[in-house]
Amino acid sequence: MSKTITLKKPFDAHVHLRRGAMLRAVTPLTAAEFGRAIIMPNTEPPIETVEQAAEYKKEILAACGGLTSAESRNPQGDALRVSGFEPLMTLYLTKNLTPAEIEKGIAGDVCKISAVKSYPYGATTNSQWGYRSILEAANVLKKMEEVGMPLLLHGEVHLNEDDEEEDPYDGERLFITDVLPRLLDTYPKLKVSLEHLSSENAAAFIEKNGEAGRLVATVTPHHLLYGRHEAESNPLLKVKPLIKDEKSKNAVRALVAKGLPFVFAGTDSAPHPEAKKLSPTGAFGIFSAPAAVELYTQVFEELGALDKLENFLSVNGPRFYGLEPSSKTITLMKKDWQVTEPVVTDEGDKVWPICNTVHGSGSETIRWKIQN
Ligand code: NCD
Ligand code: ZN
Repeated sequence: MSKTITLKKPFDAHVHLRRGAMLRAVTPLTAAEFGRAIIMPNTEPPIETVEQAAEYKKEILAACGGLTSAESRNPQGDALRVSGFEPLMTLYLTKNLTPAEIEKGIAGDVCKISAVKSYPYGATTNSQWGYRSILEAANVLKKMEEVGMPLLLHGEVHLNEDDEEEDPYDGERLFITDVLPRLLDTYPKLKVSLEHLSSENAAAFIEKNGEAGRLVATVTPHHLLYGRHEAESNPLLKVKPLIKDEKSKNAVRALVAKGLPFVFAGTDSAPHPEAKKLSPTGAFGIFSAPAAVELYTQVFEELGALDKLENFLSVNGPRFYGLEPSSKTITLMKKDWQVTEPVVTDEGDKVWPICNTVHGSGSETIRWKIQN
């Protein structure tokens, strides 16, 4: 008899869907794996008002509502079940973002805003609208603390005080040691999520200081699966924060295996067209949506921690956002499969998922499959 796991429908606490043709191509894939997702605001232009968030939400809902059967298939041609997906919207912490907009976002009359995302200026894809240091955004942070709006951190120091780039392998450690403690001290009630945790230092800090309603961390599939050597030789694995050494990978794996209530899934699935991704100056961002839940499951199985999987995927994330877990379920079956094709947008752009057999790193067999 084949082995199956049934879970409450997962929650992706960090996903990039883009706009237009790319959004239409990737949104059904996230919607097939996750019942809800926190939608990142680093589009072009960025999402910095509730009106823009409302428009963006409409576009996402249209992409997973009115599908033809031909469109609702993953790259392998499997039919996808995508109904009932709920996008949870965020605002980008740009210099234009005001305390008044935070109040509108919490009230939700135009569009409910679930969180505000901070990008360090220059560190990653579309981060050119971010502050150099999160601590400069005092008025907005004060308002967020007052009204209970969560702050999602791209937690890396990218530039030093002279505007020179720090070593990108060290950016997260610098943030954890120099910035995060000051932020937490200055805003003792602010709800903070350290996104895509990737280093030993961050894992140790979160294990010690995490608290379900106050300081949490999200973890991607790629920081659980890969080490620096694989990442440096495969442009598909170029991402911020960078994939680090084996010690860091093992620290992130050990953290999720503990089953802490303040650690949960955020895929950081971030699609880029092939031409932008597979070039020497390739864009930062890993596209994992077509197999994200399966890859997390595989890692938890390797760690002997399948009993911790449902809280990580489906319970801890909603709790941080004040939501109940999904009342729907998914079932995963133990079954080997491979991603052999790219996703193709309706404008003809190819987008390669992580772990595909064409541009892979030699470990492409996925061990679990969601049953649709
Ligand atoms: C993300 C993207 O492509 O939008 N890229 C990435 O490397 N993770 C932006 C981000 O989350 O840093
Ligand atoms: Zn991201």
